[in-house]
Amino acid sequence: MRLEFVKADGLTTASDGVAALVFDEGALTDGAARLDQLSNGAVTRAIAAAGFTGAKGKTLELIAVADGVKRALFVGAGAPDAFDDKAAETAAAEAYAALKTSGIKTLRLAFKDRTASQAAHAALGVTLASYRFDRYRTKEKPEKKPTIETVEIAVDDVDAAKAAFAPLSALADGVFFTRDLVSEPANILYPVEFARRVKDLEKLGAKVEILGEAEMEKLGMGSLLGVGQGSVRESQLAVIQWLGAADPKAQPIAFVGKGVCFDTGGISLKPADGMEDMIWDMGGAGAVAGLMHTLAARKAKVNVIGILGLVENMPDGNAQRPGDIVTSMSGQTIEVINTDAEGRLVLADALWYCQGRFKPKFMVDLATLTGAIVVALGHDLAGMYSNDEGLADNLLKASETSGDTLWRMPLPASYEKNIDSLHADVKNTGGRPGGSITAALFLQRFTNGLPWAHLDIAATAWRKPSSVVTRPDGATGFGVRLLNDLVAANYED
Ligand code: BES
Ligand code: MN
Ligand code: ZN
Repeated sequence: MRLEFVKADGLTTASDGVAALVFDEGALTDGAARLDQLSNGAVTRAIAAAGFTGAKGKTLELIAVADGVKRALFVGAGAPDAFDDKAAETAAAEAYAALKTSGIKTLRLAFKDRTASQAAHAALGVTLASYRFDRYRTKEKPEKKPTIETVEIAVDDVDAAKAAFAPLSALADGVFFTRDLVSEPANILYPVEFARRVKDLEKLGAKVEILGEAEMEKLGMGSLLGVGQGSVRESQLAVIQWLGAADPKAQPIAFVGKGVCFDTGGISLKPADGMEDMIWDMGGAGAVAGLMHTLAARKAKVNVIGILGLVENMPDGNAQRPGDIVTSMSGQTIEVINTDAEGRLVLADALWYCQGRFKPKFMVDLATLTGAIVVALGHDLAGMYSNDEGLADNLLKASETSGDTLWRMPLPASYEKNIDSLHADVKNTGGRPGGSITAALFLQRFTNGLPWAHLDIAATAWRKPSSVVTRPDGATGFGVRLLNDLVAANYED
């Protein structure tokens, strides 16, 4: 799909599809009024006959209402005063989704009299809603194939809209990068291939180092390496640096992602039913990669470290066993009670490495960590844990602005005993009660007391069916927008 900002010139255009906003009580915006004129009042008559009030979330579609316009869609925009960037984004995404397979080739969004920022957000909404992961489809039913080739957003000031869209376009590219990574099956996207794709971020000006198993062994990462031990695919640690602050030596902030390219459970093997979902057990690493893509593409004025722990968790003659005791980079020993609680083992070494090498202001890790968070919070909220009030507040604010919604969870000291081990310093599961909480308490032991937050995104990295129009079924890209907003609102020069 091509996206263009064009001058709202009052002509109807050559577009065979037009979408225009209608506010409460059927108040026509410019584009809607123009279609009404061209149709000799058919639009007003249809709105009255259909009882269309312009309420948010409602649409009215008219066929062949004016010369050349095959489909006109009137999108309810609610109260004019409450129509903001978010509303523009949703309205545009709804229009795109409603018409994408309708046969029209060009969709014109009538956005005259709207702000440049609203027009830019409309463009973002359309872009995010247009995402498809098509790489492996060789046949498709024609009625499912999108027909829209071009979306034109008609505005008063083309240059202002373009300028406002630039950072949002970088955001959309980052979200798409994440969605592509998360959607890829595990036979294609294994740790080395993931690392290769992340290496491409150098083209945007990021620094990328890839550590293999030999280097991680030297560093003493027995916890991470134990997870990959049963796989024929080599484990990797990707270290991405975006140094965009005026002072490239200024203290950075850091994001760490769980990148389990496939999670069979290992010797503690998962049941067959639904195991295929575990291709997206690298959703945390995917989100960090997408965030770094966005920050580099929009040249964010901040120093940011992104660390991805990339492994495959397989059963094998050489696989780690339940009861094994491994030594993490921190020196703490870990009793592996369940080889399926592997994400925390990967993050233990990735977090320790991150704090030791970069001494960041804070670390935020993202991980599809536990089934327990799916049970606790459902699919619309990710669990957020933090040892730092300021960081937690900033994350909750970004949760509101971004729509990647978080719910804060507790880190009760009284549950620490659940992960105490008989023979080692800590064990990797605390049983079923509070399963997401004890996982977070485990991670906290590897932060060395730094300000830190953990986002358990097991339920939000992937949705099928989707409930949000800007997130088509499948990989959501959850976290990219959240963290981009977090960075933009608080940490740039
Ligand atoms: N990757 C899973 C968590 C998961 C479950 C993500 C469902 C998405 C949907 C994780 O590695 C895992 O297996 N966790 C176990 C931990 C348990 C063995 C303590 C779980 O949640 O069951
Ligand atoms: Mn697991
Ligand atoms: Zn996992």
